[in-house]
Amino acid sequence: MANAKIAPSLLAADFLRLGDEVAAAEVGGADRLHLDVMDGVFVPNLSFGMPVIEALRHATHLPLEAHLMVAYPDRLIDAVAAAGADAILVHVEAAVHLDRVLAHIHGLGKRAGVVLNPATPLTTLDEIVPRVDTLLLMTVNPGFGGQRLIDYTIDKVRRARALLDSRNPACEIEVDGGVDVDTARPLVEAGAQVLVAGTSVFRRPGGAAEGIRGLLDVLK
Ligand code: DX5
Ligand code: ZN
Repeated sequence: MANAKIAPSLLAADFLRLGDEVAAAEVGGADRLHLDVMDGVFVPNLSFGMPVIEALRHATHLPLEAHLMVAYPDRLIDAVAAAGADAILVHVEAAVHLDRVLAHIHGLGKRAGVVLNPATPLTTLDEIVPRVDTLLLMTVNPGFGGQRLIDYTIDKVRRARALLDSRNPACEIEVDGGVDVDTARPLVEAGAQVLVAGTSVFRRPGGAAEGIRGLLDVLK
């Protein structure tokens, strides 16, 4: 039996019905909401920002995690925290001064996450690993929902778990991109503890609650 938490990514939600989508995610047993913030520079796409995070903060008690796909994450941390994010996740590829950025996030009393693109090696974590609360491993190239999981990332999850077990066992591993009923189980068996899922949650005909239950079912 595998076990994992589900973090629905609102990128795939119906934005005209965002409140209903959040309510359905709560009913389905979401552990937290995953909010993809894009700037059109670090990734070739735009999504949403502070006004949406703030609106969500008033609509749910679920923890909100902001996945910052932006070129200068340090510039946005105060605003994202003030808007209501409980956890802030920054890419190592974007944060030149990663230690300072994590200290900034912790100084605001928030959980700090580090995100690695598929091709970014785990060795980039060597120095910073004791300071990380969440390691988010991208299982697709960031910027778009609905992509297929890149298969070599599953072994990366396994190696990341081994690294964390020896250096920071409290750090959780989260995976993001292409998570569905086929990929969820292999990812969890490799060591993923939190599954970000957009398309497979919100694009199900039966709605988000059914989508989450579908993922949890394949983990039983
Ligand atoms: C991609 C985002 C993901 C995305 C996942 O850049 O970071 O969170 O919403 O979408 P799916 O689950 O559809 O692959
Ligand atoms: Zn994401």
